[in-house]
Amino acid sequence: MCYAIPGRVAEVKDGVAVVDYFGEKRNVLCDFADVRKGEYVYAQGGVLISKIPEKEAVEILEAWKEKFFELKELDRTTSKIHENADASGNILQILQKVNRNQELGKKDALELLGTDDGEDIKLIMETANNVRQKDHDNACCVHGILEFSNYCTQDCMYCGIRKGSSVKRYRMTPEEIIDAARHASKELGFKALVLQSGEDPWYDDEKLERIVREVRRLDVLIFVSIGMRPKETYKRLYDAGARAALLRFETSNKDLFEKLRPGTKLEDRVQLIRDLNDMGYVVATGFLTGLPGETNEDLVNNILLTKELGADMYSFGPFIPTDGTPLQSESKPDVDRVLKATALARFMDRKSKILVTTALETVDKGAKKKGLMSGGNSLMINITPSKYRDLYRIYPGKAGNDKKTEENINDTIELLYSLGRAPTDLGL
Ligand code: 5AD
Repeated sequence: MCYAIPGRVAEVKDGVAVVDYFGEKRNVLCDFADVRKGEYVYAQGGVLISKIPEKEAVEILEAWKEKFFELKELDRTTSKIHENADASGNILQILQKVNRNQELGKKDALELLGTDDGEDIKLIMETANNVRQKDHDNACCVHGILEFSNYCTQDCMYCGIRKGSSVKRYRMTPEEIIDAARHASKELGFKALVLQSGEDPWYDDEKLERIVREVRRLDVLIFVSIGMRPKETYKRLYDAGARAALLRFETSNKDLFEKLRPGTKLEDRVQLIRDLNDMGYVVATGFLTGLPGETNEDLVNNILLTKELGADMYSFGPFIPTDGTPLQSESKPDVDRVLKATALARFMDRKSKILVTTALETVDKGAKKKGLMSGGNSLMINITPSKYRDLYRIYPGKAGNDKKTEENINDTIELLYSLGRAPTDLGL
C-alpha cells in the first residue's frame, strides 16, 4: 500500500525542487537530501522525504498511471456544481464572489454560516468541493496517527484525558513507539506520521529527540503533536528531523479559552504556533467547533486566526461532550455546522489543506464523505496499537476504534477511490 507516489525532479533551485507527477508540478523543500534533475523522490506536505531508485519508481508509476488519470477524471465530474435555482439570493451572491475568486468578508462568512436552508447548504458544499478541485486537484493526504501516551498535566474541561479524569493511563516506551512507527511505514506504507500524546513530561527532550531521530530514519514526514512545550524543545525536535507540528489553539475567544483551559493563556499558545511557523515547521492548527458558549462570530474568528497563523493544514472538529468531564452534559455536536465551517475555511484560505477529522466521523458515520465533499482534502488513520486505543479517550466512541488498522485503511481507500481522490500527497 502506498500513500505517496514518487515524482521526478524536473529542476532544483535554492534548496527547492520542482517535482513532476505525470506532468503535474509541485515545489518541494529538500533539506533532507541533495537531489538532482532526473532523480525520483517521495515528498509529503511540501517536504522531500526520501530519494527512490529509478527502477523502483518507474515500476510504481507504471502501476499508478492509469488509476492516476482515471481518478482525476472522476473527481472532475464529481466536483461539478449542479443547477441550484432554489438557493437564497444572498447566498448565491456570496458564492458568485467565491467563483470570481474574490475575498469573502466576515459579514459574508456569517451569512453562509447562518443559513439552515437545505438547498443553501447543499450549494455551499458543492461550491467548496469545486474550489477544492480547482485549487488542489484530487490529492488527499492520508497520515497515520500514533497516540503514544494519555498522561496529561493539563485539566482542559472538554477533554477526556484531562488530568482530573479517571481514565486508565498508559505510556508507550520509546522502543514501542519506534516499532509501531516502523510497522506503519514499512508494512502499511504510510509516508507521514503524527506522534501525539497528552502533555506528558515523562518524555523529556532527550527521549523525544531519540524517538524523532529514529522515526525519521524510516523516511517519513514526522508531525509532532505534544502540546505546550518550550520553543527550545520544538527546535531540538526540528533538528532531529521533525518537519511538521500539530497544535490547535482550540478557540480564538480568549475568555472561553481561559475558562475551559484553567491556568493557561491564549496568547502563549498562539505565540508558540507562530514560533513553530518561524522555525520552519509545516503547521497544522485549528480549533474545536461547538464549545459551550461559542458564537458564530467566534467560529468565523477561529477560521481567520487559523489563516493568520499561516496554517498549512486546518485541523478542526466538533467538540464531543465526554462523560466524566465538567462539560459532559453539554449539547451534542452539530454536523452541518462543522461542514459549513469546512466550506468557509476552503473559501477563505484557498491554499490550505483541510483535515476531515475522526471526531466528525464519530458524530456521524457518513460525515467523512461529507467532509471530503465540502472542501476537505486530508485524513488521518489511527495506527495506535489496539491495546492502547480505547484508553486514548479524548472523547467517547472514536470512529474506527472497533476495526483493525488494515480495515480502516481499506475502507478509507475505497471511499477515496469512489470519489475520485488519490490517497497521496503531492506536496504543496
Ligand atoms: N471532543 C472533540 N475533540 C476534543 N479534543 C479534546 N477533547 C475533545 C472532545 N471532547 C481535541 C482538542 C485537542 C485534540 C488533540 O483533541 O482539540 O487539541
